[in-house]
Amino acid sequence: MSLPKVVIIELGSQYTLLIERAFRELGTRSVILTPEKAREWFKKNPVQAVVLSGGAASVYDKDAPQPPEEILSLKTANGKPVEILGICYGMQWLAHRLGGEVKAAPKHREYGKATLRRHGDSSLLALTPENQTVWASHGDSVVKPPDYFGVHAHTDSGTIAAMAYGPILGVQFHPEVHHTEYGKTILENFLRIADCEHDWKPSSLISSIQERVLAELGDKKAVIGFSGGVDSTTLSAILAPVLKDRLLAVTINGGHLREDELTEIRLHAASAGVWHLVVDAHRLFERVMKDAVDAEEKRRRFKEVYAELLTEAAKKLGASVIIQGTLAPDRIESGATGGALIKSHHNVGLDFGDLKQIHPIDHLFKYEVRALAEELGLPESVWARQPFPGPGLFIRVVGTPPTPDKLEIVRWADARVKGILQTRGLYDGLSQLVVAYVAANTVGVKGDARVYGGAIVVRAVETTDFMTAKGVHFPDDVEEEICSTLTRHPAIIRVWFDPTQKPPATTELE
Ligand code: XMP
Repeated sequence: MSLPKVVIIELGSQYTLLIERAFRELGTRSVILTPEKAREWFKKNPVQAVVLSGGAASVYDKDAPQPPEEILSLKTANGKPVEILGICYGMQWLAHRLGGEVKAAPKHREYGKATLRRHGDSSLLALTPENQTVWASHGDSVVKPPDYFGVHAHTDSGTIAAMAYGPILGVQFHPEVHHTEYGKTILENFLRIADCEHDWKPSSLISSIQERVLAELGDKKAVIGFSGGVDSTTLSAILAPVLKDRLLAVTINGGHLREDELTEIRLHAASAGVWHLVVDAHRLFERVMKDAVDAEEKRRRFKEVYAELLTEAAKKLGASVIIQGTLAPDRIESGATGGALIKSHHNVGLDFGDLKQIHPIDHLFKYEVRALAEELGLPESVWARQPFPGPGLFIRVVGTPPTPDKLEIVRWADARVKGILQTRGLYDGLSQLVVAYVAANTVGVKGDARVYGGAIVVRAVETTDFMTAKGVHFPDDVEEEICSTLTRHPAIIRVWFDPTQKPPATTELE
């Protein structure tokens, strides 16, 4: 199986993931990329269609997101022009770039449901009625399309709602949002116009992964590094039925796990139906990490010891193969498709000596693995699970070595904050919650005494791809509850909230 051939360029819309999901439901895989990553991607990979997402910016803003110019002259593998669909801001960018006119029209600002009137012949709007409800959310709009463009629909406020010329199509509404009555039909029309293949079929994907591993494994035994996260759990659930007792999932517990995480890992192994072993390595990691402060150094030591322990476990069990849940971004990063595109992963570059390594899902993206997990009937705690770094709480103790006492503080704080956000119904909407201990040596008063101690930083982000992220602001009463709860711990004096966006900040504090 190859990489997806539909590229969605993310220009700052909250709906971008919905476009990817709608395409997948229509049987076609796509990849969401920032404009910079898309430029790199186009140099190396065949493309059949490009979607420009919506976004909050105006084309007249100084730092408005700019899709790569190359999209206008891209060719498919068959030499045909690549089909482009601009959605909302994407359409405005196309109109502006090609000589049309875009106007900020506050009086005509549309938000919410609008009635669209289709006129003329539009292949994009084929099979939809003349009058239909669409979801609009924009301030600016196209008041004059570029030369030669046909206008195929208006909304009831008079806004141009669809335009097209040759392979370039634009809609001023959001077909990916379910309030757009015929959105699915419109996106399906686009995939058909662009001649996109049906390359997302979960059942054939599952059997091709199984066949590939069976062929590579022969009659040998394998060990899979099992973090209980979505990748290793899904891969185990795919392989366990065919490998049976020739597959063993191994979890290394180095004292870096969250509260009750081992229970969750065991439950996930049980739901994947895989044999599971936990290696207790608290003591070893305590020694290894005792003077590690720099996050990269912690990662290096973690990877080294993790690989050694997994190799040792495999050898004891008579396994000669290590299976890993490496994903496409790691393969892209490691140069297999050219260019350093997406951030690396802790799976990459592990040294397992003479053991063979197999990476059976290295053509898939995270959102596809989540969809497969759902398809396989794995519990929501698997497919909806937030990411958690491989070195875990080791990199959530910042500015001081992750000694057992500091790990205990951050583990306790993390569980309390998660609990509060869950009770308030705020947790599920977050892309990731980060609770970290920072060795800042701040002063406070506990009992009647002056005390010094570190601070707990609470940070949550919303993001689609973790390349960029929006910092989350919590309501005052939620912050108050978090502060009063955490400072009950004798070693916690202060709580800091960090809503800085990425960039300039990263998700983790390091
Ligand atoms: P940053 O901090 O770079 O993180 O914005 C982006 C995403 O990657 C996760 N992350 C890691 N995952 N090993 C991992 O497996 C690591 O060393 C590591 N560091 C960061 C981070 O939690 C976020 O989801």
